[in-house]
Parts: sequence; C-alpha cells; structure tokens
Amino acid sequence: MESMLDYIKNYPKMIRDAIEATKAAMLPKYDSNDFDKILVCGMGGSAVGGDLLKDLLRSSELCWPVEVSRQYKPPAYVDNKTLVFCVSYSGNTEETLSQFVEVRKRGCKIISITSGGKLRQWSERLGIPIVKLPSGFKPRAAIPYLFVPMLVYLSDYGLKPGLEEAIETLESKVCTHEKNEKIRKIADIIKGRSINVYGPADFEAVVQRAKNQFNENSKLPATWAVFPELNHNEIVGYEDNDLNKEAYVVILRDSEEDESMETRIETTKEIIRSKVKGVVEIHSDGKSKLARTISLLYYVDLLSYYLAVAESKIPEKTDFIDKLKSVLAEKIGLVKKLESELI
Ligand code: F6R
Repeated sequence: MESMLDYIKNYPKMIRDAIEATKAAMLPKYDSNDFDKILVCGMGGSAVGGDLLKDLLRSSELCWPVEVSRQYKPPAYVDNKTLVFCVSYSGNTEETLSQFVEVRKRGCKIISITSGGKLRQWSERLGIPIVKLPSGFKPRAAIPYLFVPMLVYLSDYGLKPGLEEAIETLESKVCTHEKNEKIRKIADIIKGRSINVYGPADFEAVVQRAKNQFNENSKLPATWAVFPELNHNEIVGYEDNDLNKEAYVVILRDSEEDESMETRIETTKEIIRSKVKGVVEIHSDGKSKLARTISLLYYVDLLSYYLAVAESKIPEKTDFIDKLKSVLAEKIGLVKKLESELI
C-alpha cells in the first residue's frame, strides 16, 4: 500500500482516471424531465463527494437541489423523480446499503459509485449502473474518485465543471515543493492541539472535510463551522471562558473573497485571537470555483498528513472506525438482513 502522502500527491492523476472510469461505465442518460432533484447517499469519506457537489451546484448553471444523506433512511420526499448517487468506496457500509435498498423500493434513478463489496454485487445483480473504482485505497484518500464521476455525469446535462482547469491549477500551483513546505511549517506550529476549522459557507464541504481529515489522519479533536453562520453562535462560545486556550483556529480563505467576507473574517480574528493559542490561514489557488475548492481540499489533506507525522501518528490507520464497524456487523448483522430483502 502506498502512503497517504503518495495518494494526496496523486490527486491530479486520480481526477483524470476518475473521468475515464465514468466514461467507461456507459451510464444511462435520462431525460432531464425524468428527475427534479439529486440525492447523494454515503458516509464519511464517501459522503464528502456529495458535499462538494452541493457546494459546486449552488453557483452553477444547473439548478437541481442536492441533498447529502448520511444515515440509514433517505428523506421522505425522495421519490422516482430523484437521481440518486449511492457512494461507498468499500461498498460495505451498512448505512449506505440500507439507503440503497430503500431508494430502489422508491423507484429512484440510481447510480452506484464503488470499488466493490455488496454495493457492487447488488448493483450488478439488479442491473443498476456502476462507476467501478480501483481498489486498495483508504476511502478518504480516494476523494477524487468519489466526486469527479458525479461531475462528469452531470456535464451531459449542461454542467461545466472545469475539470481540466482544476487539474492544471493542481499541477502548476498547488502540488509544488514551495506549497508543500508552507503546509509542513503550519503543521509544525499547530501539531498536537485541538483545531477549530472555519471558512466561507461557499466552501462548507472543504471546511467539514478538513475537520474529518484532522480526526482521521491526524488523530486530533476538531470542530468546524462556516462564515457567516459561525458569527451568530460559535463565536459566543469563546466568551467568558478559556476553554479554547490551547486550541488553534485554522481559517480557509478564498482567493476570490469579497470585501464584506474579508471584513467579517478579519473582525472575527480580532475578537477571538486572545482566546486561542493562535490563528493560521490557508488560501485557495486557481480561478474557477472547482479549482479553488480542490486546491483547498489538497492543502487541508496535506496538512492533516503532516500533523500526523509531526506527532508520530499513522495517518492510514483508523482503528476505532474499524472496530466499531466489526462489532456492529457482528451484533446487528444489518447487511445480511438487507440482502434477504433484496431477493
Ligand atoms: C476511511 C474513511 C471513512 C469511510 C466511512 C465509510 O478512510 O474515510 O470515513 O469513508 O467509514 O466507508 P465507505 O467509504 O467505504 O463507504
């Protein structure tokens, strides 16, 4: 197995491979009147692709509402006019499989995105289209594979995601020695501390991803919140206490942020600075929304890796997740029950 760092540095190639894997899947093209909303079912690393899609579609030429469902049941409004991406890298996550069974009952238009497991087996058996991903990755390290197929599929409906520009930005500005060293230095400053990650609401997916990566790769406690919402609640949690005295705040900044967002973030920094160990910032690169999003995604993933290394943690390991999944499988055995419902 390659190291987490190898995977992160390989994102440009993985985006290209994900484009090819989607084309090779020969997915069905529905009439655009056949669905009026999009649901992405997934958990953890596999759900992040849905969050990224949601952020991107907010400011795109497509106006379908997108929901990401991270639990056992899809929302009540999901019906046969819903395009559903069931995303599970391993294909064996019980929450996602449970939603798969339910969205099939409701007659949704399903596309599975997986490297194998039950999701692939069941989809093949039922004739549900699959984007087949290469195996051997940690789900969170396979992020381009879990995100790009949805963009490629929706580009047939008029979405112009700008994947080539995003790859070019990664290769020329982001995956460079200079940026690598910058991120490594940030890790040296904030290592071993709990982290509160903040960023603009337009980049909510990456802000949440950062928190997850600090948990999973770096084994650190972390929280996340976005501007402007955090100015209406989170900020008050710093008042009249010193509970965040040892924490660092990591702020994700957009290179295209407008003046009012800049003033908001700078004012927030002034208010909370004396209440925390310190504030560090990471800036996006690139022009398009996708390029800026992917550049931030790369930087936070890299930071989570260097935070692990700085404290001699193994970024690839997630023992508690593995333990919990195996105990639940043994005690509840939901997947077997679901399988019997499918036949
Ligand atoms: C592990 C990881 C987890 C998994 C989650 C769901 O690398 O990131 O958050 O993504 O446990 O598993 P999959 O993605 O296989 O459905």
